[in-house]
Amino acid sequence: MPGCVIRALDPAAREEVALVAERMRLTLVEVLGDEAGGAMYTSEWLEDRVLEHLDPARLHGQVFVAVEPDGRLAGHTIVRIERDEAGHAFGLFSTTYVAPESRRAGVADALIERGEAWMREQQVTASQTWTADSNGPLLSLFRKHGYALTLRVPEKKMVVLSKAFVG
Ligand SMILES: CC(C)(COP(=O)(O)OP(=O)(O)OC[C@H]1O[C@@H](n2cnc3c(N)ncnc32)[C@H](O)[C@@H]1OP(=O)(O)O)[C@@H](O)C(=O)NCCC(=O)NCCS
Repeated sequence: MPGCVIRALDPAAREEVALVAERMRLTLVEVLGDEAGGAMYTSEWLEDRVLEHLDPARLHGQVFVAVEPDGRLAGHTIVRIERDEAGHAFGLFSTTYVAPESRRAGVADALIERGEAWMREQQVTASQTWTADSNGPLLSLFRKHGYALTLRVPEKKMVVLSKAFVG
């Protein structure tokens, strides 16, 4: 990830909020296909969803962006704290996206490390993510970071990957 800096997204930077929202849509298109993913949510809904993660009154979350030396956003990850059925809090990687021209350079690695550091700061001891069972790059990314497949939901073609933090 030569030269990229990871920082929290500023909710006042509306162009960046809009870009992250657009990339949430692109993630859905890339994972689910144009027809299913493209029209799933409106731009307004996606932008509000990004902002929700930056407003502690609405949700316990954060959005991290990877910024190239020239100021372009190379990618982002959206994280939040959720609770399982027993009431235990855990960290969730909601979505992670790197622009095609910035891929295979370690940007996602750095975003996952920053997201996990934030989760540890929130005192949770485990982390999780959901993805399509066919999303090879994402499965490989999280396995590299120590996540194991803990649930399959065949009817939705989705899987859950989980990791317990140690130390
Ligand atoms: C998955 C994604 C975030 C990876 O971003 P990236 O910055 O290219 O990833 P990195 O360069 O940091 O790679 C880290 C690890 O991820 C895995 N990986 C990344 N791209 C991969 C690919 N095309 N094929 C296989 N493994 C891949 C590898 O394990 C890699 O480690 P390595 O370089 O030591 O082999 C990116 O491809 C993407 O944005 N995809 C579309 C969006 C998406 O599917 N998001 C998840 C929705 S839940």
